[in-house]
Amino acid sequence: MGRLATVAIDGGDLPFGGGLLALVRPALNGMEPGGVLAVHSRTPAIADEFFTWCKLEHHELLESSAQTGFTRLLIQKGSLGAPRGIMEINQDLPTRAGRLDAATVLEAVPFPAKADPGTGFAPRGARVEPGGPAYPFALNDRDRTAPPDVAALYDQAVSAQWNGDTDIAWDRIKPLSPPLQQALGQIMTFLAENELSALYVPSRFIARVHPAYVEVGMFLSTQLADEARHIDVFLKRARKGGGGLGISHATTSASLHSLLMLEDFTEAAFLLSVLGEGTFLDLLRYIEVNAPDEVTADIVRRARADETRHVHFGMSHVKHALQQDPALYGRLEAAVRRRSATLAGVNGVPAAVQDALTILVARGIDPPSVRRGHETYRELLNVMHENRIKRLASAGFSHDQAQTLSDLHTPNFM
Ligand SMILES: [Fe+2]
Ligand SMILES: [Fe+2]
Repeated sequence: MGRLATVAIDGGDLPFGGGLLALVRPALNGMEPGGVLAVHSRTPAIADEFFTWCKLEHHELLESSAQTGFTRLLIQKGSLGAPRGIMEINQDLPTRAGRLDAATVLEAVPFPAKADPGTGFAPRGARVEPGGPAYPFALNDRDRTAPPDVAALYDQAVSAQWNGDTDIAWDRIKPLSPPLQQALGQIMTFLAENELSALYVPSRFIARVHPAYVEVGMFLSTQLADEARHIDVFLKRARKGGGGLGISHATTSASLHSLLMLEDFTEAAFLLSVLGEGTFLDLLRYIEVNAPDEVTADIVRRARADETRHVHFGMSHVKHALQQDPALYGRLEAAVRRRSATLAGVNGVPAAVQDALTILVARGIDPPSVRRGHETYRELLNVMHENRIKRLASAGFSHDQAQTLSDLHTPNFM
């Protein structure tokens, strides 16, 4: 005798494989390696069964003794073969006004600083049996993957979803004058093309995120749903009223190709979300203010609300990563410079898009209105530049760095 058991089980006359193990296994699972489990059983020859089983499962059968009418076994839990991770015990989740959001779950089960690719698709908080294959996750580091507010952003995104079929008053669209119709078709084509890149670029990274940071994948999947809806409504707006699509330009294509080719998650968050989608906020605001009808204004206003969240995620990701690793400033600056060198031939948004943004403001083709439209468009470029600098400064870049990076940002806006 002598050893004190941490936990005791009365197995009655349950046969070894006929129910007794179903009591023993969970009891051992709930113990730390080295813990001792006492089992009382009235089943004959049970000690031999446990002797073999303990060997197989890497536990130690410390003792088996015949008592009056039952066998007493002491099993010490082995460390080899024990599932990894800390099992959540007695962990209740608080609700707020009956609601249970993802941010509350993250608070209760926080992100690990590092994640082990050997734990596969095991949910965070589960204990993982060893022996599974290594998974090809590349984003296994919290500080480069999962900003602390990502679950709250996911909660916001879920409540803010809208329907591009039923939420838009499509039947209120009236025919526009031919120049305005054509301009709007060109703008919507340009928007949809950029939205496509915003759909494809994050999708390349979701499968690289370790499931321990699943809230990042959950947030990015809401972003994909947002971008899909933006593509949908922008193309519908181009076609409704009979205008149809405009031209897709080679310079836009080159700019978006350079985004799609990015292999680093933080560089992509920086170039796509902080700089690109950030610049798009100002573009969408411009289109909303100058929209030819309320339906168009409604579409871009809704898209901008979604984009604000995407920019927020990018900012949060980059700020958090920069706080952990100041060397990242240089790497992000280098990424902007590399992209700028790739796009050396791109001097501005395609002329047809500039013209369309001008006509949108002018509402017609009389010279004084077109002059006003052109001036308003030039002003948009300044606003975009100033707001990029503000975002870069808020991420922690110096004013000079922010100025340089904003100047080097693609003239295609995204
Ligand atoms: Fe979008
Ligand atoms: Fe976006």
